[in-house]
Amino acid sequence: MPKLRTLYVCQQCGYQSIKWAGRCPSCGMWNALVEEITEPHAPSGLASLEDAQPTLLTAVSLEDTAHLQTGVGEFDRVLGGGIVSGSVTLVGGEPGIGKSTLLLSVAGALTAYGHTVLYVSGEESLHQTKLRATRLGLSSSLIHLLAHTQLEAIIGAIKQLRPQVVIVDSIQVIETNALSSAPGSIGQVRACAHELVQLVKGSRSALFLVGHVTKEGFLAGPKVLEHLVDTVLYFEGEPTSGFRVLRSTKNRFGATYELGVFHMTTEGLVEVPNPSELFLSDPASGGVPGCMVTVSLEGSRPLLVEVQALTSPCGMGLPRRRTTGIDFNRLSMLLAVLERRVGLHQLTQQDVFVSSLGGVRLLEPAADLGIGIAIASSLKERPTNRRDVAIGEVGLTGEVRPVTNIAQRIHEAKRVGFQRCLIAAQRGGVSSPEGIEVIPVHHVREAVALALA
Ligand code: TYD
Ligand code: MG
Repeated sequence: MPKLRTLYVCQQCGYQSIKWAGRCPSCGMWNALVEEITEPHAPSGLASLEDAQPTLLTAVSLEDTAHLQTGVGEFDRVLGGGIVSGSVTLVGGEPGIGKSTLLLSVAGALTAYGHTVLYVSGEESLHQTKLRATRLGLSSSLIHLLAHTQLEAIIGAIKQLRPQVVIVDSIQVIETNALSSAPGSIGQVRACAHELVQLVKGSRSALFLVGHVTKEGFLAGPKVLEHLVDTVLYFEGEPTSGFRVLRSTKNRFGATYELGVFHMTTEGLVEVPNPSELFLSDPASGGVPGCMVTVSLEGSRPLLVEVQALTSPCGMGLPRRRTTGIDFNRLSMLLAVLERRVGLHQLTQQDVFVSSLGGVRLLEPAADLGIGIAIASSLKERPTNRRDVAIGEVGLTGEVRPVTNIAQRIHEAKRVGFQRCLIAAQRGGVSSPEGIEVIPVHHVREAVALALA
């Protein structure tokens, strides 16, 4: 194959260069030049231009978009009901979290329904993949393995086998001959993903791309892939806890922020179909300051999560702030609100540690009120009531703002056995379902006073 011409293109300003440079000579941005293939545009004949006829919306057939159920319920749920043929899904997560295990299990489940799956393992040998499959109890003759990292070989195998589902584990190790940069570089990852996406869009195969997330939380390089694919799933969890959460952050075929919960065991991943109480500590261990439960809504699924906070005098140095599962900037904002609007001035001389139980990520602002109360509880050394939950977004003036789907959240708290629910005062009010007392609050000060009474 003749080597295609490649250029280095600045991701910031579009400047093109035939040589790589650490800094873009045009806009001055560091590390912005990325190797890209520049194919001369094929002369497009008039015929093909005339082919580009608009189609009536009513004339588009939906037959192709039936969801292919995998049999792994939690996985189907996050995808919006199953795999759509011709779709491309990116599965991101930290190394070692269980992406390969998850996808191999899904491959096993799919083949049980008679679907053909091609599992491209770029990181592990055939032997290693077989060992894992044996451990997971898979022995299907319909899982085809390919241990290769060369894009052209993978494309050849897909064309020859025509599987219903292709899994590429992982996109960061795949390389194309057309580029001279190393595998894992942005140029390589993007070019390989682009080729694979083009290939499956034209066929009826569904493609899963595994991507590793770096420490900073970006898919290494392939944050750039997110717009290329139809669905983005993140697999996350504390490596030390056995629980894993699969979350969709983009889905062209279903709701985003849908959540699937798994438990990693020695025999692989086990689904947790009713995870509501998973992220709560034992109620019998009550009476410790610094805990508060909130109800986060993950997709269509409400999840009760306990927030734990610890404040401790910092002495001479700068106060430290650490979070697990909670957005750091959100914590900084909440601390400022607690200092200035609630009068907890001692916080300026305190180290503050906040975490969500099980490391489940609380991304919603609805968790603000729970976090604020947990911090105040730890600072004042006053325990909260183990039967309380708090739901609400906190604004810069300390006001508590309403959040979406409050009735559904209250209902879930009641179902699990909570007795009081602090929420933002709503226009028109919210009726208290029987068995749980709903207390509207206007300001965090008010909520803290109520929760620590
Ligand atoms: P893996 O799927 O290799 O992670 P990734 O592909 O995201 O890098 O998962 C590796 C971890 O999962 C490893 O620490 C061992 C654990 N594991 C189990 O606990 N049980 C199992 O059955 C399997 C296959 C793996
Ligand atoms: Mg892996």
